[in-house]
Amino acid sequence: MQQRKLLMPPFHGERMRAYGQLISDIAKQVISQWKISDVFKARSSMQEISLTVILRAVFGLKEGERYQEIRKTLTAMLDSFESPLSATLLFFKTLQHDLGPLSPWGNFVRQRELLDKLLYQEIRERRSQSESFGEDILSLLLSVRDEAGQPMTDVELRDELMTMLFAGHETTATALAWALYWVHYIPQVREKLLQELNSINVGSADPMEIARLPYLNAVCSETLRIYPVVFFALPRILQAPMQLMGYELPKGMLISACIYLTHHRPDIYPQPKQFKPERFLERQFSPYEYLPFGGGNRRCLGLAFAMFEMKLVLATILSQYSLELVEPRPLLPVRRGITFTPAGGVRLVVKERY
Ligand code: HEM
Repeated sequence: MQQRKLLMPPFHGERMRAYGQLISDIAKQVISQWKISDVFKARSSMQEISLTVILRAVFGLKEGERYQEIRKTLTAMLDSFESPLSATLLFFKTLQHDLGPLSPWGNFVRQRELLDKLLYQEIRERRSQSESFGEDILSLLLSVRDEAGQPMTDVELRDELMTMLFAGHETTATALAWALYWVHYIPQVREKLLQELNSINVGSADPMEIARLPYLNAVCSETLRIYPVVFFALPRILQAPMQLMGYELPKGMLISACIYLTHHRPDIYPQPKQFKPERFLERQFSPYEYLPFGGGNRRCLGLAFAMFEMKLVLATILSQYSLELVEPRPLLPVRRGITFTPAGGVRLVVKERY
């Protein structure tokens, strides 16, 4: 609770406004490399954006050798769980054997050691220049003191950074890849969204104004409803026996809410298999009905940040480029680590602007 309280403010309110410009600038910079007729995988491009955003906003990292090394190592670590089979390693401790650098778990352990080394180097270096705290979240964590006046230890800092690196960028990249898929798969959705975006000047608008656009919000919300990036909230262990819909659940039992199944209940979402952003314009859903970011006292810390980033990146891309799906067909989610991501990564082609 103490650490959540500490981490909450930078992900909300005024601090978010400052990140708005950063997010739009990074998006513009990454997509400026696209040329007419280029084919690209939305998932990889979106990951380039979201990783840069996390490294800049959370870590305050600037271009340089360590920045590049952290980027490379993290990407390699995440890629090692790309196939559904290798992802099972994350869920079963008995499979986690280090059989040398060529074995899947051994490779992961070595990458993690390297990332740890880089993170500890960064923490120590930043501690030694304590006067020059910036706007980023690592700076904030370095400056806090507990009741006894003690700063966070290197290990605590490393754990927080590692959690945010892992929880914060792959999820957002996958959500954006799905959003690009749906917007280009259903022409009416794209048209309606473009109409809304054209009503303001995205290039010069205040990021907060973009974030308040109702249809853009509905498209992002529906994207996270139909295929939530995380299908299950993280498991909870019952502290006391509980009755649930006629079942007696004993103390100590591990339970997890299935986000996907909740989002596909036809009594809450009529025609649940259809992508219909309008549902979010017609009514509000309670936290028990709509929970792409989990719920309760461990709900995702990055909720507001992730929604903000999704909206700004989507608005930036759509206002600058015309894109088309290379294969306009139904897409299903496949497992990647603990997330579910569009099979094939959503290939798009850059068209002449019309
Ligand atoms: C679309 C993007 C994202 C999705 C779908 C998502 C989803 C989730 C979910 C389902 C959980 C588990 C909640 C629970 O068990 O009740 C979670 C936890 C968490 N997320 Fe996110 N997340 C996203 C982006 C982010 C970002 C951008 C950050 C931070 C920069 C972040 C930081 C965290 C942290 C720190 C936790 C653990 C909270 C705790 O255990 O107290 N997430 N997220």
